[in-house]
Amino acid sequence: MKIFAFAGSNSSTSINKKLVVFSLRSFPNDQINLIDLNDYEMPIFSVDREKNGFPKEASLFLENISDCDVIICSLSENNRNFSVAFKNVFDWCSRINPKVFQDKKMFLMTTSPGGFGGGNTMNLAKNIFPAFGANIIQTFSLPKFYDNFDEKQGITNEALLAEFNAKILEFKQNLA
Ligand SMILES: Cc1cc2nc3c(=O)[nH]c(=O)nc-3n(C[C@H](O)[C@H](O)[C@H](O)COP(=O)(O)O)c2cc1C
Repeated sequence: MKIFAFAGSNSSTSINKKLVVFSLRSFPNDQINLIDLNDYEMPIFSVDREKNGFPKEASLFLENISDCDVIICSLSENNRNFSVAFKNVFDWCSRINPKVFQDKKMFLMTTSPGGFGGGNTMNLAKNIFPAFGANIIQTFSLPKFYDNFDEKQGITNEALLAEFNAKILEFKQNLA
């Protein structure tokens, strides 16, 4: 199985990327394509700029999706919304193909240092991603990242780890 994995963040120390990397431990036998959103930096989307064509990075991002079987991602939350870095990729891609996520099955995550764990962004993504072709199979939000995650160990809170593992299992069962 081919997994396309990304964090919706352009931070070099992204906690969402750390969560994505941790989640990939659950897929040791699969082909992983983990990208860095910084490699998909484009001018800020505008209807004027798109008249001159689409940046190659947007097409590449969409190719990553068309090449995969499933998407595993974790979105960061800025001002209760997507990061600007992700939104820009999303906007450009949506102009090339409104079905950005191309009906691929998705394990959707968020995390933040706060107690809601990026829950606003999770709710936003849950509401709108299906209209853009996302087949969201399972979701997980990790609250208080710095209290509940260790770089080596991963999720340290027992209850949250159990929830995460149960959701990964359900996701895998859906793929079978
Ligand atoms: C401009 C800005 C706005 C933020 N707004 C929120 C927010 O609304 N909710 C939240 O939980 N965290 C918020 N945060 C904290 C981020 O969740 C935190 O920086 C986190 O590390 C971002 O994820 P990343 O490391 O994967 O980029 C904000 C951070 C910044 C810089």
